[in-house]
Amino acid sequence: MSYFPIQQLLKAAPVGATITVKGWVRTKRESKNAVFIALNDGSTINNIQAVAETGQLAEETLKLITTGACLAITGQLVESQGAGQAVELKISDVTIYGTADPEKYPLQPKRHSLEFLREIAHLRPRTNTFSAVLRIRHALAFAIHKYFNDNGFYYLNTPIITASDAEGAGEMFRVTTLDAIKPPLNEDGKVDYSLDFFGRETNLTVSGQLEGELGAMALGKIYTFGPTFRAENSNTTRHLAEFWMIEPEMAFFELEDNMNLAEDFVKTVIRYALQHCADDLAFLDNRLKEEEKTKKKEEQSELGLLEKLQFVISNEFVRLTYTEAIDILVNSKPAKKGQFQYEVKWGVDLQSEHERYLVEKHFKKPVILTNYPREIKAFYMKQDDAPATNSRGDVFGPTVRAMDVLFPGIGEIIGGSQREDDLDKLVARMQEVGIEPEALWWYLDTRRFGSAPHAGFGLGFERLVLFVTGMGNIRDVIPFPRAPKSAEF
Ligand code: 4AD
Ligand code: MG
Repeated sequence: MSYFPIQQLLKAAPVGATITVKGWVRTKRESKNAVFIALNDGSTINNIQAVAETGQLAEETLKLITTGACLAITGQLVESQGAGQAVELKISDVTIYGTADPEKYPLQPKRHSLEFLREIAHLRPRTNTFSAVLRIRHALAFAIHKYFNDNGFYYLNTPIITASDAEGAGEMFRVTTLDAIKPPLNEDGKVDYSLDFFGRETNLTVSGQLEGELGAMALGKIYTFGPTFRAENSNTTRHLAEFWMIEPEMAFFELEDNMNLAEDFVKTVIRYALQHCADDLAFLDNRLKEEEKTKKKEEQSELGLLEKLQFVISNEFVRLTYTEAIDILVNSKPAKKGQFQYEVKWGVDLQSEHERYLVEKHFKKPVILTNYPREIKAFYMKQDDAPATNSRGDVFGPTVRAMDVLFPGIGEIIGGSQREDDLDKLVARMQEVGIEPEALWWYLDTRRFGSAPHAGFGLGFERLVLFVTGMGNIRDVIPFPRAPKSAEF
């Protein structure tokens, strides 16, 4: 190897050996007798300190060694004299690959705001915070593939360009090669998509689920892990227009099997991150503690990042029905004092304030809510046999075998369900909500030929990364975020 990754170097610490490291200067510090360069190559949060005696490096070279410059440093690894590091490099040679004019380089060794860093997303991976987030993101992606591979799932690649709207929700990005200014029109004056590239209207996918179901009905257990796109105009800290989703789909699984899998799955990947990203998580844990100190006492969170992650993997998630949750919410203090912004009653979709009340105030644990009203969920969810009733015997409307996993600080992290496997019920429901059964003939074929109970869910990858890193904004856990009015880089 022509150079030593700093992560390996610090681990192996071959004191006495002469080695070359390559990376970017984080800081340069000069004392009376020596110059100290902290170099980082992205392989770890930790820098290697390289030391030269005063006068050893030519003035011209020294001038060019500034924060952000890229160097190769060769030297002998020795035990460090100073505090803060075990070993350091005694410089024998420096090559400057690229300079970084300190007048112009925007990343100086001081704390920059996350908002500012979002404007320089092309450089922010060079900061401690973002490099830590991106390494953890990688570890989680790897852990996800490993989990499914270890558990007999096959990775299925579902299409990114689709002619179907899986959730029936609209809000898709159109894919077209037609002339934007003068598209061909048909007799009714509408755009003639039969002349478009695919001979029909196509969009970027909002979910790989429908095709995932086709895979499960042949391979048994599959998962997807790919980008999904939603053109909703949600300017929140939890929404992206382009995000990555993991969607397992399993033949012969019912709702409870689905819940068991979801809980085991998230716990396992979080445990993996704790085991494999200790340095990065410790750094983010500290960062969060510093940030908490600037908040008012009552707004500070009770648990630190590491404590929170440990807590989640060592406690069972609470499971209850939507109807039971509504009961809790209706009788809650904030509801009685009129503190919820949105009204809560049976039949409404829960807002994030309601979800967070349940998770953060009432149960203080991750929660799995099930059996939601049919009217607020997608057409493909399996219909329950009897309408919902509460403990007082009130009877409500029809429900479906849906499940949402709610996490502290995040709200919904997973959404899923058992699927309707009865052809007639599924077709009837599609007609009720205005989806042409003919348009999804291929989806319905799985119910026509060899239908079986099956279930699945979708985990929003960035929401998982948000939770594990303790970051506050989803735009800070994906390298190049896509959100309304934001697609630079
Ligand atoms: O609840 P959703 O919409 O479910 C589906 O798409 C189903 N087809 C999944 C399935 O059953 N196979 O989305 C699933 C998850 C959400 O729980 C959330 O974590 C994430 O995807 N998500 C988003 N993440 C970032 N930005 C957005 N705009 C998101 N919308 C959903
Ligand atoms: Mg959902």
